[in-house]
Amino acid sequence: MSETRLAVNDVSVEFTGLRALDHVSLSVLTGEVVGLIGPNGSGKTTLINAITGQVKLAGGTITAGDITLSGLSPRRIALAGVSRSFQIVRLFNTMTVLENVEAAALAKGASRGAATERAKSLLDELGLSAKVDELGESLSYGDKRRVEIARALAAEPRFLLLDEPAAGMNDAETETLLHTLSELPRKRGLGLLIIDHDMGLIMRLCHRLHVLASGRTIAEGDAAHVRSHPDVIEAYLGKGAAHA
Ligand SMILES: Nc1ncnc2c1ncn2[C@@H]1O[C@H](COP(=O)(O)OP(=O)(O)O)[C@@H](O)[C@H]1O
Ligand SMILES: [Mg+2]
Repeated sequence: MSETRLAVNDVSVEFTGLRALDHVSLSVLTGEVVGLIGPNGSGKTTLINAITGQVKLAGGTITAGDITLSGLSPRRIALAGVSRSFQIVRLFNTMTVLENVEAAALAKGASRGAATERAKSLLDELGLSAKVDELGESLSYGDKRRVEIARALAAEPRFLLLDEPAAGMNDAETETLLHTLSELPRKRGLGLLIIDHDMGLIMRLCHRLHVLASGRTIAEGDAAHVRSHPDVIEAYLGKGAAHA
């Protein structure tokens, strides 16, 4: 499969009285894992919402390969090969785990048989084979998050955007998730953009990091570069703490 680039070019997003993203540019190649980090309220979720068409742009463009995503509906963007998970899990509570994942494959146009097959194989890959017949609502928090990732993968995306997938997971669940996620780019040829507060997970998983603060890019590069960047230290510690 040829290499493709998801490119966010000079993107701004405005809410009433607030510039949530201010001329942000970022790119993710297929096969690559990019971490999106920054303090609470820095615009991370808004950037994913902008890519997937959930919020309108005040400026800039977003492309995946030669397709312009900005201006398309969320459904069209998903069909163009960009899938996401949500910070707050969205599962069908009264459907089984298998049905939840099948539904996502059917939405992408798979036949019934192909959808079942794809769902089973993804659930196996995510370590959820024993839970296929359980209802969405009966799952532990960590399992719900994994089903959400299986749902996103069922659309066979070129780019997968994950909003805090390890939130609420214990250490063992996070370790399993790290292992699963680290294999996705190579196994599926996809590009991964991941937001998480677990710096251990981010630093071990990501090839590159992009740091936002107050809607602006303050640093980008590898873990060592970002970790020692004065603006990043300042953004995380706050002005008061930096002088304490
Ligand atoms: N739909 C919205 N309407 C108004 N303000 C919003 C909306 N979504 C996010 N914001 C604001 O935009 C800023 C960035 O939010 P968000 O992208 O959720 O940050 P993060 O994910 O980095 O914690 C915050 O100040 C937040 O309150
Ligand atoms: Mg967020």
